[in-house]
Amino acid sequence: LDEVSLRPKRFGEYIGQAKVKDNLTVFIEAAKKRKEALDHVLLYGPPGLGKTTLASIISSEMGVNLRITSGPAIEKAGDLAAILTNLGTHDVLFIDEIHRLNRSVEEILYPAMEDYALDIIIGKGPSARSIRLDLPKFTLIGATTRAGLLTAPLRDRFGVINKLEMYSAEELKEIVRRSAGILNIGLDDEGAYEIARRSRGTPRIANRLLKRVRDFAQVKGSGTIELELAKHALDALEVDEIGLDGVDRNMLLSIINKFGGGPVGLDTLAASIGEEAGTIEDVYEPYLIQLGFINKTPRGRMTTKNAYAHFGLEYDG
Ligand code: ADE
Repeated sequence: LDEVSLRPKRFGEYIGQAKVKDNLTVFIEAAKKRKEALDHVLLYGPPGLGKTTLASIISSEMGVNLRITSGPAIEKAGDLAAILTNLGTHDVLFIDEIHRLNRSVEEILYPAMEDYALDIIIGKGPSARSIRLDLPKFTLIGATTRAGLLTAPLRDRFGVINKLEMYSAEELKEIVRRSAGILNIGLDDEGAYEIARRSRGTPRIANRLLKRVRDFAQVKGSGTIELELAKHALDALEVDEIGLDGVDRNMLLSIINKFGGGPVGLDTLAASIGEEAGTIEDVYEPYLIQLGFINKTPRGRMTTKNAYAHFGLEYDG
């Protein structure tokens, strides 16, 4: 319930992603003026940056219903056909992890997106034929952590393609302050900034850390989150000065200590730290690349001088 109530419901409450927000606001207003469905929207970027939240805001701003599903949840073509035929005019269908749709399901989407039509094959063999069913005009919002995993025909059918960027510490501070207000948590400016700058550019992490730091404030502090309390709590949570957690540190130190700073292949690295390769790529690596701690090279991942410096190690690369 907390998670849901922290989500902003309108663009007016949504902090950050200024470019995406400004452009979508124009497209939504234009679609409404023309009394059309909004064109299909692809949102991509690391997890926790607000893709689902944006889908929900878009549907509210359009004044239509939102249907939420995900790539892996739609197993058969018939599952998607059932969803599509139940949409109302101009409704939004949100498909999270859209890169994980299977091929036969994806093929249903092409005519649905392009012509608002459902092609159904009836019969078998020489007498088989296809009939076309009209669908309501709708908006597909697809979300993925990596746009590179989408097939070209699917990607090409989105009229609006938006990349979500990591948030600045200032933006995260505003988000944490807003959340603290909603959750009735006492939080001063410096405490908010401390949580923000250790949240890896990610609102979902900022909101999670806010709740955990609040626990420390209530048990070990005055009830209000100020700088010293925030530092103490985040240290206890093993979130370091720049927001790295145990997995980040393990990964960087493995590359440095086991593979001489790299290059090391993704699968080898994954096996060496006991994480999934996909999780490293989607969840851990983007922030480490953004920090300039890891480079992706054709021969594998390498740690940089910055990474050595963070651990106080001598760089001999
Ligand atoms: N909570 C999570 N993400 C948010 C955002 N971008 N703006 C405001 N509150 C949020």
